Amino acid sequence: MDEKERLLQDLVSLAKRRGFIYQGSEIYGGLAGIYDYGPLGVELRHNIKQYFWDSFIRDREDVYGMSAAILMPERVWEASGHTEGLTDPLVECKRCNERVRADQQEAIADHEKKHKKEKVEWTDPRVFNLLVETHLGASKKSASKVYLRGEITQGVHVNFKNIIDSMHPKLPFGIGQIGKAFRNEITPRDFLFRQREFEQMELQYYIRPEEKEGRTQFEYWKKFSLDWYYGLGFKKESLRLRQHAEDERAHYAKDAWDIEYHTPFAGWKEAWGIHHRGDWDLRRHSEFSKVDLSYRDETTGEKFIPWDIECSGGVDRAVLFALLEAYTEDKLGGEKRVYLKLSPRIAPVKAAVFPLLRNKETLVKKARGIYENLKKEIPGVMWDDNGNIGKRYRRQDEIGTPFCITIDFDTLEDDTVTVRDRDTGAQTRVKTGELASYLSEHMV
Ligand code: GAP
Repeated sequence: MDEKERLLQDLVSLAKRRGFIYQGSEIYGGLAGIYDYGPLGVELRHNIKQYFWDSFIRDREDVYGMSAAILMPERVWEASGHTEGLTDPLVECKRCNERVRADQQEAIADHEKKHKKEKVEWTDPRVFNLLVETHLGASKKSASKVYLRGEITQGVHVNFKNIIDSMHPKLPFGIGQIGKAFRNEITPRDFLFRQREFEQMELQYYIRPEEKEGRTQFEYWKKFSLDWYYGLGFKKESLRLRQHAEDERAHYAKDAWDIEYHTPFAGWKEAWGIHHRGDWDLRRHSEFSKVDLSYRDETTGEKFIPWDIECSGGVDRAVLFALLEAYTEDKLGGEKRVYLKLSPRIAPVKAAVFPLLRNKETLVKKARGIYENLKKEIPGVMWDDNGNIGKRYRRQDEIGTPFCITIDFDTLEDDTVTVRDRDTGAQTRVKTGELASYLSEHMV
């Protein structure tokens, strides 16, 4: 294993050891491309989703939130083009019949390594659809076939008329949602990067079908998305925007850009997409459902199918990239340590409160009072009295807690506590009455 792969492996073991992420159904041997989130992982993921929900939906007057169902009929996916378009080219190994993606050189090389010195021959590429299908009801006839959604987008487009009729929005306006998507990826790989069940956070922003407006809005949402991603705590040089080449674009896209993250294990990788979907989805759903999905401008009386500018991010990729960015090895007080330099905005625990000694009743009582008060003001405060102070610091560093607060014998005298900063190890005495405002100020 080379140095780059080691870093990913170290992160995978930290994520498991500290309760962030586990292999799905692990005690049964695991399921490839499926992961479960533990107590700290679910908080980290929740904080990322909350930040998306606030920035893209709740804080804006022109965007509505919604939550569509995962199961949708086959006709939806025929209309959206995914039964034809969400495909990968596959080649099959003539020795063992395993299939890998024809367009992924690393998957082909990995497979050839398995056969060591034997020469591997491959079939010609064949097209494979990634949609995950199932059946509803007692019969397995084709009428009962449904798909687990391959992207969350279609749940928004099929509700376009419902939103118009119930909320009466004026263009331009957006509809955002967060939810699970499923793809039968042939070579799930690189931990959370390519999974078969994953979560997406998306905005569909509907605009007038005009080239100039399309360009302006597209540029606006590119910048908005990139600024939002930096807000997760990335360094300037860790992210970039890249335009898709024409032959790389999805079937629905007039133009497409990715926000990419520079991974230590495989260079630049897609984190988020901004897609100019034109009128593709609404036009196709109008044709296939026979329900008119055009928009009527009440002032001018004009009727037209709006265009859609889409922002689409993987929640799990944001979790993975935020963890990779935060993973830090350094020396503190002459000792080697590993810690997560997570932005306080997304850290699963914002501050941990400790009594210096767990068996000194006066200290524990005082510390519990401070803890109870603080957690009313700052969500995500944790109680920790396990092991000695040094061990508690190491554990909190490893899960990325920005601040540790120790209640010691001086606290009983002067009502001050020690606040230790995760990144520098610096310790400051702060009055208990000023603790919440001190933390809020330093949590930017
Ligand atoms: N609605 C547009 C759409 O789904 P996409 O580029 O296929 O576009 C959007 O997916 C985002 O979803 C990607 O940028 C990525 O972050 C995430 N994503 C896609 N496939 C994924 C997978 N197999 N595992 C984890 N995340 C994935």
